[in-house]
Amino acid sequence: MIPGLELALIGGTGLYQLAGLEDAETHQPVTRYGAPSGPAHVGTLHGRRIAFLARHGEGHSVPPHRVNYRANLAALQSLGARRVLALNTVGGIGADFGPRVLACPDQLIDYTWGRISTVCEEPGTDVLHVDFGEPYSRGLRRQVLAAAQRSGTALVDGGCYGATQGPRLETRAEIARMRRDGCDLVGMTGMPEAGLAREMGLDYACLAIVANWAAGAGPDPDEVITLQDVLDNVAAASAGLPGLLEALLQGNGNA
Ligand code: HPA
Repeated sequence: MIPGLELALIGGTGLYQLAGLEDAETHQPVTRYGAPSGPAHVGTLHGRRIAFLARHGEGHSVPPHRVNYRANLAALQSLGARRVLALNTVGGIGADFGPRVLACPDQLIDYTWGRISTVCEEPGTDVLHVDFGEPYSRGLRRQVLAAAQRSGTALVDGGCYGATQGPRLETRAEIARMRRDGCDLVGMTGMPEAGLAREMGLDYACLAIVANWAAGAGPDPDEVITLQDVLDNVAAASAGLPGLLEALLQGNGNA
């Protein structure tokens, strides 16, 4: 347990470290679920202790379906984190969710398969049927949205995140189906992470960074999505993150 640590950030594609983290220490807790994707960096940002973990490992070596989501969350929890803000790189489906937009979704649909999606399968654990009608923590979402407002960072309030299996991107037909289902965003890592966080009693919210139009969703239906575009757009959209994080950390005693 790290005294004073409460908030943890999980970085997604293109976000492998947290700039400005002072007095950083590296921790690699071994959890009952195995090893996390990489070390957790604990340091001080704007006067508050905070932990950061790169979801795919620091060299992006772990694909979305192989991430040990349970170990990542358990590692952060064992360090003392009670709140987790997940940074997720996504494709945009809805008209308001174009490249470089930041969004704080309020719903999700899970299209992933074959991933360990519960902490209830270890021998001796109780079977939990946690409420998940509102998949992201209302309080943490409110704080993130308020911090965006205070820092002047444009952030879309709400939207439905569709979690796909990856690692390939989707077909246009798959995205058209997801649009009909009500998805505004598509990413590969939103689940089972959010569901596990709920089972583990963590407050959890998603800050989605739109890297590209999802297949067929943008003005050019023939557009080919390249990794370079994704990384460039994540870097550009992330420019708003330091200000938002500063406002979040300074916002109130609980963030
Ligand atoms: N689809 C799924 N995941 C993604 C995308 C996408 O278009 N862009 C970034 N992550």
